Amino acid sequence: MARLSLTHFLIRCERTSGMDANLRLLLETVARAVKTISHAVGHGALGGVLGSAQTSNVQGETQKKLDIIANQMLIEANEWGGTLAAMASEEMDQPVGIPVAYPRGDYLLLFDPLDGSSNIDVNVSIGTIFSVLRAHDPKAEEAAFLQPGTSQVAAGYAVYGPQTQFVITVGQGVHEFTLDKDTGSFLLTRENLRIPAQTQEFAINMSNMRHWEAPVRRYIDECLAGADGPRGKDFNMRWVASMVSDVHRIMQRGGIFLYPRDRREPGKPGKLRLMYEANPMALLIEQAGGAASNGTQRILDIQPTSLHQRVAVVLGSREEVEYVARLSA
Ligand code: AHG
Ligand code: MN
Ligand code: MN
Repeated sequence: MARLSLTHFLIRCERTSGMDANLRLLLETVARAVKTISHAVGHGALGGVLGSAQTSNVQGETQKKLDIIANQMLIEANEWGGTLAAMASEEMDQPVGIPVAYPRGDYLLLFDPLDGSSNIDVNVSIGTIFSVLRAHDPKAEEAAFLQPGTSQVAAGYAVYGPQTQFVITVGQGVHEFTLDKDTGSFLLTRENLRIPAQTQEFAINMSNMRHWEAPVRRYIDECLAGADGPRGKDFNMRWVASMVSDVHRIMQRGGIFLYPRDRREPGKPGKLRLMYEANPMALLIEQAGGAASNGTQRILDIQPTSLHQRVAVVLGSREEVEYVARLSA
């Protein structure tokens, strides 16, 4: 039997669950942008897209050429379709509105255009992460975006790896589409992904160990002690250093991902950004039966105070995330 295309799948959602037609259009437009990004990523050195752009973003991080190219592709694909009031991105200090020449819609789109910067130039999987909110405030300035993750109406990511995949939720499970590069269509390859509640695989940047706070240190010590320690089982470790890829692996076979706050910069609660990294991933993980916290609090319940704020992240297999929360209490 022929596989369902993304378009067909979304039309089915519209008919069976009353999903708004504009949300369908928006998701299709994001998917179209993702295809152009996938194309650019695939050209690599041959397309002249690798290397540094010699600029910095609002967070002081050096931008890669592909960070900027992907950001531009998402803006250009989404600004004219009439579904959005504004967009915000890791690579832009302030949100961008919709040019007056184009129709305005009711949604806000947030994205991390290119996730996994350190892997861009070395041909390791990278991705795009996005989150969709409703625009309640007609001005659609920064304040309009400051809604907790529970308010997201859709979220997803694309992973540019051996295959390009697009994984989305509209609040009714998580579904995976794979790009058929012959026809240019995203086709449904897994419906209703479920993350096993238990795991023996963790993902953390171990080089930060000496900076961790006591509960994270204890948790990883217990994992490393394996069958001889209090957990009574051996653990394996994986760290791709592209959040999209680490989360995608957890979506397929379970696991726990941690990017904790540490003692280097006490004022900085972790590395990852709440609005366009942690919130969309937390919604996807919860929709697949997993859990996502900052160690002690559910990520989706955090009331944001600024567009680029950072947050500690512990997500993945539910029982394992709950175990870390008990150590942190
Ligand atoms: P980005 O490339 O969008 O700045 O995000 C990179 C993030 C995330 O993808 C990954 O999990 C983490 O940074 C890797 O951090 P380390 O370099 O500390 O391993
Ligand atoms: Mn990122
Ligand atoms: Mn990024």
